[in-house]
Amino acid sequence: MGRSYLLVFLVIAALASLAIANFHDEWAAEGEPQNAKYADDANGVSLSLVNSSSGCRLRTKTPFLYGSISSLIKLVPGDSAGTVTAFYASTVGSSHDEIDFEFIGNEAGKPYTFHTNLYATNVGNKEVEFKPWFDPTAGFHNYTISWSSCMVVWYVDGIPIRVFRNEARNDVAYPTSRPMYSYVSIWASTGAWTTHGGQVKTDWSKAPFVANFHNVNLDVRGSGPPAELGGHVAAGHRSHAAPPPTIRRG
Ligand SMILES: *[C@@H]1O[C@H](CO)[C@@H](O)[C@H](O)[C@H]1NC(C)=O
Ligand SMILES: *[C@@H]1O[C@H](CO)[C@@H](O)[C@H](O)[C@H]1NC(C)=O
Repeated sequence: MGRSYLLVFLVIAALASLAIANFHDEWAAEGEPQNAKYADDANGVSLSLVNSSSGCRLRTKTPFLYGSISSLIKLVPGDSAGTVTAFYASTVGSSHDEIDFEFIGNEAGKPYTFHTNLYATNVGNKEVEFKPWFDPTAGFHNYTISWSSCMVVWYVDGIPIRVFRNEARNDVAYPTSRPMYSYVSIWASTGAWTTHGGQVKTDWSKAPFVANFHNVNLDVRGSGPPAELGGHVAAGHRSHAAPPPTIRRG
């Protein structure tokens, strides 16, 4: 096998290695594992928010540098005010990079808010919010974050809802060099941005609040070996050694 064929093979192997995200094999319960309940085939998980300080968060075991992550998600039904269900990618450690889908609950019968944001070296302030054109609690819908060196695209059921281009040449921070992990989580928030300006309150008598994730698809470039994949690989190895983040919002 010539060197270039070997390289192609290794790239394909790296791409393929993370395509199936069985929750037992690929994910680690990070925050409050007792609130995660796995489907029998481990391709789905329910995350419960049981009280104001006990939600749940899972993280993939392997970070990635560029690629697409998708999940089918069914959001908390009924009165979900004050709950935030999240599907996102983030680096670990300080001065983090992050790309988010955050689903902000509401009173029964009122629409969710789909909140998108992007952080590069801790700089966020790039929120854009959407109202869904369907009831996201009635069934599973497919949410995708696609991250390349040129742009980040957020998709809902295959429809691009937001594009954030890399404008680093105009001094807009953009995540390019540090591998991110994929996360699913549910948490409680009393912030103005999650309570429609303080108008809605969580009704804890309705707890536990449960969000369901299924068929997570990690179509990503792994950041593990082989070294032929380039300089980014080393960064991936370093991030394995980084301490896990403390429990934080999202
Ligand atoms: C929340 O629930 C956890 C168990 O999951 C319990 O340990 C904790 O004391 C509870 N906290 C509050 C504020 O009720
Ligand atoms: C979700 O959408 C992505 C992107 O269109 C696709 O690759 C993936 O297969 C879809 N997931 C499911 C479970 O249909």
